[in-house]
Amino acid sequence: MELAKTTWTYVEEYLKRSQTLIIPIGSTEQHGPTALIGTDYITATKIAQEVGENLGLLVAPSLNYGMANHHLGFPGSASLNPSTYIKVHLELLEGWISQGFKNFVYINGHGGNIMPLNCAISELKRSDNESKVSIFNWWHLPSVREYEEKHFGDENGHHATCGEVSLTMFTEPEAFKQIESKSFKIEPKSHHWPLSPKEMKIYHPDGRMLSNPGLSTAKHGENLLELSVNEISEKIKSF
Ligand code: NI
Repeated sequence: MELAKTTWTYVEEYLKRSQTLIIPIGSTEQHGPTALIGTDYITATKIAQEVGENLGLLVAPSLNYGMANHHLGFPGSASLNPSTYIKVHLELLEGWISQGFKNFVYINGHGGNIMPLNCAISELKRSDNESKVSIFNWWHLPSVREYEEKHFGDENGHHATCGEVSLTMFTEPEAFKQIESKSFKIEPKSHHWPLSPKEMKIYHPDGRMLSNPGLSTAKHGENLLELSVNEISEKIKSF
């Protein structure tokens, strides 16, 4: 059930049987010339909504902006600084905790969010409170990794990956009608990290990072969605 499509009275009743809230988080950032700027929140939102349906749990609206400073050289990308991102999560969590939510399950679609989100949780857990927070970076799930390794191998890459692009091809077929798919050559480069926006454009001029999204298909996306939803659902049930 989507939190945004319920009423406060529904949530009050829900809290009597469950104190769990699923929170999808992503980013609004370029994903190379052939994939969507919303990729990271589109994937996280879809997985979160299906997990919520599976388990009868409430799903918060996705946080569609993330920590993506290195993408700012590409038009359309948006980013919150780590310090801002930490505060946003702390303030959202504190509000929900004050109402009785205790268990928070983040479903994350963007690597840049991992570090500041972990910082936010560390700050939250500085005081003794009963809240429990778990984070699923869906592309790190063992079943997803195994599938991507088998079907995409070294061409999956680190950004605008075959896996995430496939998932959006499955959920957003209309958007992809406007985009011509093409194959890319992969040219490994070693560099320091993190990168500034200017450095990002020097090392990864078209925005991909070692990926060939030309291998992506909606069918792979459907399979990856199912694997992610099943694995996350099983893990939540075992908590
Ligand atoms: Ni992404």
